[in-house]
Amino acid sequence: MIALTGVSRVFGARAVVSNVSLKVEAGTILTIVGTSGSGKTTLLRMINRLVEPSAGTVRIAGRDIRDVPPHILRRGIGYAIQGHGLFPHRTVAENIAVVPRLLGWDRRRIAARVDALLALFHLDPGAYRDRFPAALSGGEQQRIGVARALAAEPPVLLMDEPFGALDPIIRGQAQADLLAIQRRTGTTVVLVTHDMDEALHLGDRIAVMDRGRLVQEAAPAALIGAPATDFVRALLGRGDRAFQLMALSVVDDLVEPGPAPGEPIPAGTSVRAALAESLWSQRPALPVSRDGVLLGRVTRTALEAQGARP
Ligand SMILES: Nc1ncnc2c1ncn2[C@@H]1O[C@H](COP(=O)(O)OP(=O)(O)O)[C@@H](O)[C@H]1O
Ligand SMILES: [Mg+2]
Repeated sequence: MIALTGVSRVFGARAVVSNVSLKVEAGTILTIVGTSGSGKTTLLRMINRLVEPSAGTVRIAGRDIRDVPPHILRRGIGYAIQGHGLFPHRTVAENIAVVPRLLGWDRRRIAARVDALLALFHLDPGAYRDRFPAALSGGEQQRIGVARALAAEPPVLLMDEPFGALDPIIRGQAQADLLAIQRRTGTTVVLVTHDMDEALHLGDRIAVMDRGRLVQEAAPAALIGAPATDFVRALLGRGDRAFQLMALSVVDDLVEPGPAPGEPIPAGTSVRAALAESLWSQRPALPVSRDGVLLGRVTRTALEAQGARP
């Protein structure tokens, strides 16, 4: 779906992105991970022509994007950024409808799409569509930002640290929502993050950037199993592979019948995030739900046992 060939970007005398070649298969999620300043945002923005490459080629669905005027190109590419970028003086519905309006959708189709997206993100359309961004929590604003990026059903969605400002629980929910929605829509997603756990949890493939260079591109388990450089190893952290593999498996398979106190966690929550939640909230078992339906519970014992057999 997306193919970068020898892509570079220079600012002044400085190479910010150097000779990156990458492919993203249709319907998959590629996460780009690296430290701050490694060129992730610049690389992402070359896919929707917010930044033009100094060298190299970007193709989407086989077409060189230099042949597509930027404003046309961007109608087919959703873009969600940290801090959501919502228009403060427009309602939730108006914010979500920006691209469908540009595309000339009729009013009824837009209204139906807005309500469907709100429902998809677990926000009651009647309660949310006429609110202004200031009347939303940070997590809600972020969901509206992602809903807006998906409004016109773009085949490609670019996300730049979309969950960076969210607290861990809301963040886990937002990640689970994204995965569920992406599996349903088949959208091709490129997501930038500086958080290796997030990259491992969300990515079908992970691209690691170090000082403008792509140092490794691999599936999550392959990355953990064989980090290509010391930098990748450092990003993976303390070398605790069992712990990292816990970020890859989800609680779904560990659900058992029975009660547990407090807010349910989604079935797509990683074992690692669930264990953290169990410890932080001092709950020896957590209720688990999928699409609002309670499935059962997962116990800390089961989570720890999972971690012990990578
Ligand atoms: N428009 C620009 N002009 C000059 N330097 C830039 C510009 N955009 C980014 N840079 C520099 O390029 C480097 C990489 O930036 P960026 O792609 O934002 O990295 P990341 O998203 O990984 O933090 C940084 O040192 C940044 O200051
Ligand atoms: Mg950035």
